[in-house]
Amino acid sequence: MHMDRTIKILGVSGSLRQKSYNTALLRAAAELLPAGISLEIFDLAPLPMYNPDQEKPFPDSVAEFRRQIAESDAVLFATPEYNSSVSSSLKNAIDWASRPPNKPLDRKPVALIGVTTGNFGTVRAQLQLRQILTHVGAIVLAKPEVLVARAEQVFDVEGRLVDEAARGFLRDLLIALGKWVETLSPEE
Ligand SMILES: Cc1cc2nc3c(=O)[nH]c(=O)nc-3n(C[C@H](O)[C@H](O)[C@H](O)COP(=O)(O)O)c2cc1C
Repeated sequence: MHMDRTIKILGVSGSLRQKSYNTALLRAAAELLPAGISLEIFDLAPLPMYNPDQEKPFPDSVAEFRRQIAESDAVLFATPEYNSSVSSSLKNAIDWASRPPNKPLDRKPVALIGVTTGNFGTVRAQLQLRQILTHVGAIVLAKPEVLVARAEQVFDVEGRLVDEAARGFLRDLLIALGKWVETLSPEE
């Protein structure tokens, strides 16, 4: 990257499962980062179900999630596909983050990745996630798409992404996301 500062990416996995492939995909991303980019993974498990009656103040876990989005340069969402859509935990988290004041996803550069045990690589979930994120004002990276199918074949038993093609797609997306941040938030 050309920027002097480090670009901070917040990784958000839509799966709460302990051995989640989507969380493992974010860990793989952390291994493949280009120079000048950092990635921290946020755990959505503590977030309660969205309730408009609990916004003043936001629950602590929600306030922390919103703060970490606000302090990051970009958010990388890894989505599972549940019944042709995003997981309820991911939609719930985005609902919390969409609320005023200072809507933290508004104008935030974001990118999507996803992995499924099925054959279609979360294409349906990612289309919906793109629509949801666009609605909340995030600026979604168009390409490259990282749609990882047949998870058992691309991760080893320790949850390491071992498929070279998938690692290459992920690396390309991280480079593109860094450039996306540079384009949208040029250094002063
Ligand atoms: C409730 C439920 C619904 C699912 N629906 C789909 C689906 O529509 N399409 C798909 O490709 N996989 C589907 N799956 C399989 C998930 O892709 C698979 O469980 C995957 O490992 C979930 O991601 P994770 O490993 O990050 O938890 C579904 C799984 C569950 C538990």
